[in-house]
Amino acid sequence: MSTVTRDAVQMRGVDKYFGEGDARTHVLKTTDFDAPLGELVMLVGPSGCGKTTLLSVLAGTLNADGGQVSVFGERIDQMKPAALTRFRAQNIGFIFQQFNLIPTLTAAENVSVPLLIQGKSNAVALKRARDVLERVGLGHKAGERPSKLSGGQQQRVAIARALVHEPRLLICDEPTSALDRENGTLVMQLLRDVARSADRTVIIVTHDSRIYRYADRMAEMEDGRVFRTLDSAVAIAAEHSGHG
Ligand SMILES: Nc1ncnc2c1ncn2[C@@H]1O[C@H](COP(=O)(O)OP(=O)(O)OP(=O)(O)O)[C@@H](O)[C@H]1O
Ligand SMILES: [Mg+2]
Repeated sequence: MSTVTRDAVQMRGVDKYFGEGDARTHVLKTTDFDAPLGELVMLVGPSGCGKTTLLSVLAGTLNADGGQVSVFGERIDQMKPAALTRFRAQNIGFIFQQFNLIPTLTAAENVSVPLLIQGKSNAVALKRARDVLERVGLGHKAGERPSKLSGGQQQRVAIARALVHEPRLLICDEPTSALDRENGTLVMQLLRDVARSADRTVIIVTHDSRIYRYADRMAEMEDGRVFRTLDSAVAIAAEHSGHG
């Protein structure tokens, strides 16, 4: 086995359980998962199969119960909490399935949070936040609170917040679920551009077959395990076989 790898992300034999006693369920079942540098990897599978759980373990927001999790060559499963927090702030952006915006902050303030955590000044952080909101088509909503925004607009604020500090690893849980075709395309082009910049990686969980064509690679998950990873061209051909 090689110790040098192009993989940005490497999960090996990861287990995760939820609950106690009779209610204890095995949610990630000794699964592997890889994502290379410079690629956009989609993770697909039925509801409840463990996709969000897998992303949370990758992002270090949930501890695995066994196995190994490496991000850019660092074993995040072995990091102490303070080191992990620092590592995440530097390297990982996360778009949650529930957008997790802070209701008392404006859109621009929400987007600026990762930069403030990195120690940027308020003025610098807000300027950069407004630029990124502009890129997701929301420059005109920078001063609004989340409650004044539609679901799709909130989702784009969450995407801007995940992009603002230019993380090397971007993890997205259903990033286009609330978006119409036009905004879905805008967001996917942005995410693909991020992935194509040499040393970055984007991982997307999705049920939205309209965006499969943006994938460099498709990982398929079922019942707690990634059972197959396909080159996107093959995956898309399979997806459309039998439809004429
Ligand atoms: N905090 C939790 N406590 C207990 N069980 C949980 C918890 N989070 C998830 N589960 C269970 O783990 C399993 C996997 O959940 P997960 O959210 O990872 O699925 P998913 O593939 O993301 O589904 P969806 O496509 O619906 O978002 C489900 O059976 C769910 O009920
Ligand atoms: Mg989920």
